[in-house]
Amino acid sequence: MSDRSFPFVDEDSGFVGARVLKQFRTPAGRFTAVDDVSFQFAAGEIWGIVGESGSGKSTLARMLVGLEAPSGGGLRYRGKPVADLVRYRGFRIPFRRDVQFIAQDTTSSFDSRLTLRASLRLPVRNLLPLRGSAVDERIDETLARLEIPAELADRYPDQVSGGQRQRFAIARALVVRPRLLVCDEVVSALDVSVQGAVLNLLKDYSRTTGAGIVFVSHGLPATAFLADRIAVMRLGRILETADTATLLAAPRHPYTRQLLDVQSPPLLPAREDAEPAPAEPLEPTESRPTLEHRT
Ligand SMILES: Nc1ncnc2c1ncn2[C@@H]1O[C@H](COP(=O)(O)OP(=O)(O)OP(=O)(O)O)[C@@H](O)[C@H]1O
Ligand SMILES: [Mg+2]
Repeated sequence: MSDRSFPFVDEDSGFVGARVLKQFRTPAGRFTAVDDVSFQFAAGEIWGIVGESGSGKSTLARMLVGLEAPSGGGLRYRGKPVADLVRYRGFRIPFRRDVQFIAQDTTSSFDSRLTLRASLRLPVRNLLPLRGSAVDERIDETLARLEIPAELADRYPDQVSGGQRQRFAIARALVVRPRLLVCDEVVSALDVSVQGAVLNLLKDYSRTTGAGIVFVSHGLPATAFLADRIAVMRLGRILETADTATLLAAPRHPYTRQLLDVQSPPLLPAREDAEPAPAEPLEPTESRPTLEHRT
């Protein structure tokens, strides 16, 4: 299916807008993983995508960051097609700096031959104009912010625990201060006590910098704690999208009700009570060159 036969999302679709289809070729024929899904969200919004395993969440997230090409339709980031942002050299670096992705599997996402600090230097050097001691200063500032002991950074990825590696994956994404963080099952492997801390750090990052977050998870409680708005996915489709309070109080779709029955009461219910303490703002995203300045 070509773009032409599948209506493209409007140019003025805000911060992120999409209408996409994704089919995979399998031995049994074509399989539709994301089935004509449309969405849009505003800058600074925390958007949750929940759904059972295989519902297409990771595929959608990967298309959003340009790692997977849609089979039909397309996505736009700040008015520009993601396909162009990843294709053209002049767009790629500002796009990668603006939009960071934390993949579902952090075990394989770190180079085993590099220390964690060396891995964190790569995005700083490749995407930011920082050089010399400013590179490690930026890394140390980020580690401190995420409450990661700096000495752990001198280890190799297989010399830290899964939970610690997950925090380094968050640090590697936040070290460039993205405007949009797309995270796929970022707390699912952590135990509940650590989940709360990580969710608070993400929320704090969004609130202090105005960055948006797309939070992909099969866990409704964690998603409800963090997200302003939630989309429920099943079998490649979005069944309903609602602001979090509405979704919890008055789910429209029977499948959402079922999710709530199984996963309720929410693990971390009181969003207002759980606001993180105000912290030193990270460098505001507005203060650095943006896509517009570069095009
Ligand atoms: N490269 C691929 N080739 C064929 N099928 C694929 C491919 N990638 C994903 N799929 C299929 O697409 C569907 C959606 O996969 P996806 O990884 O997006 O689901 P998910 O919602 O992220 O699941 P989970 O919660 O288990 O991570 C699944 O049925 C999966 O088997
Ligand atoms: Mg997934």
